[in-house]
Amino acid sequence: MASDMTKPILDALSASDAPIISNQAFPSIPSTNVKSALDRLGSRQMVEYETMDREVISLTEEGETIANNGSHEVKVFQAVVAAMDGLKISDLPGIVGKDNAKVGQGNAFKKGWIKKDKDLLRPNTESVVDDTRELLMTVKNTQTLGDQKAIADLKRRKLITLQKVVTFKISKGPKYAKEFVKEETDLTFDMLNSGSWKTVNLKPYNFKAKGAPTTAGALHPLNKVRQEFRNIFFEMGFEEMPTNRYVETGFWNFDALFVPQQHPARDLQDTFYIADPAKADPPREDPLNDPHRPKSAQPASKATTAKPLDYKDYWENVREVHQNGKYGSIGYRYPWSADECLRLVLRTHTTSVSAYVLHKLAADPRPARFFSIDRVFRNEAVDATHLAEFHQIEGVIADFGLTLGGLIGFMEVFFAKMGIHQLRFKPAYNPYTEPSMEIFGYHDGLGKWVEIGNSGMFRPEMLEPMGLPKDMRVYGWGLSLERPTMIKYGVSNIRELVGHKVDLNFIETNPAVRLEKD
Ligand code: PHE
Repeated sequence: MASDMTKPILDALSASDAPIISNQAFPSIPSTNVKSALDRLGSRQMVEYETMDREVISLTEEGETIANNGSHEVKVFQAVVAAMDGLKISDLPGIVGKDNAKVGQGNAFKKGWIKKDKDLLRPNTESVVDDTRELLMTVKNTQTLGDQKAIADLKRRKLITLQKVVTFKISKGPKYAKEFVKEETDLTFDMLNSGSWKTVNLKPYNFKAKGAPTTAGALHPLNKVRQEFRNIFFEMGFEEMPTNRYVETGFWNFDALFVPQQHPARDLQDTFYIADPAKADPPREDPLNDPHRPKSAQPASKATTAKPLDYKDYWENVREVHQNGKYGSIGYRYPWSADECLRLVLRTHTTSVSAYVLHKLAADPRPARFFSIDRVFRNEAVDATHLAEFHQIEGVIADFGLTLGGLIGFMEVFFAKMGIHQLRFKPAYNPYTEPSMEIFGYHDGLGKWVEIGNSGMFRPEMLEPMGLPKDMRVYGWGLSLERPTMIKYGVSNIRELVGHKVDLNFIETNPAVRLEKD
């Protein structure tokens, strides 16, 4: 630790009434040390000080030699004078030394001290003044020089160096004392009681101090990006779907979506099955009055003119369309198992919620737009970009006379709102949509095409069993919330964003997000 200079400064001030100059009083102490002591003393008004920047000149090794022994040119002049009858140029180095000969000869000529007579050097004047040496002696004694031209000249000749030094002119402050006294930071009951508050040394408020960082909650980046997407959906007239059930039946997660019961997607590979309870109850007679249903799934008002949802009929329709085919579809033609669709799973996508909400819509079919953003679960190998749980952003549009072109057009508007202006579509497969399209977007920030979502038009095999009218078409699309968040925040490993390895400092300090800005 640097030595504490508070005591030496107070002592030096007590010894004299005149201000002290730091580099004279403490020549070997670095000015930063002095400064920190002055700040401590200054904040208590024990000292006052002025800062002075000074340029200090010191001699180089060569400068030092000249100050002691005279300049090169004087040596040359003296050698020429001593030769009496001219000095052979080639003899000069032998007499004054190589360095003196080289520099000194030129300078002596320049100053007009010597002249050349064939190959002999002769004096050109009676006597000379060694002004270089005189300048250097002045520098040596005072560390300054009034003549700026001379300074520049000596510097060019590498005889001196210039250095900036900070010095302080220190004087006693209004609260000067010989000792650094402890200051009280709190007014206590005892001080008030004893009356000592009148005499104690109270530390003044430091209004320049930075406040301690306040601890406050911080939104996770996923929450920030989620809110941006919610705003986009709301602005486009979407209603939010209730996503409060992580545990779903196989029915809503798969069967309602026309996913065959042997489909590899139901494979233990991708789906987490619930062990206890392993199965849901079969559908109830009067679901509208079922007290076990979550509130968000109850109809808003009893005064609805819609016919009640008949889950029994719907269930039978789903069995028919899978097993034998219905509504013009030949179905999958396999023995459909009711047990399989009652198995409980962690939902693998939020399309289970979309199916549920579309089924409710069938009670009162109308053009409608729905969205949800919530967590889904997949039994996948965890790596830098995959976790076993993530968040899906899902949108659904139901209307009459919708076309695939309309879906593409909508996607262009939707993704433009998050700054993605070029899209490409690739045919894909989902059991519940036909046609299906993967969506790719050109990401200006990354400078490349990235897969951004999956979409399609829901199949009649999914919609008609619900009781939706034959001419109603429904778009659906989904994307992950993690992907745009990672791109926006420049996170390349998902484990830095979600889970126990997340750096809380990153969560607390990350900026707000603007999807449409790169
Ligand atoms: N469920 C699909 C997925 O998990 C997304 C999707 C939703 C696709 C709706 C089409 C229609 O990727």
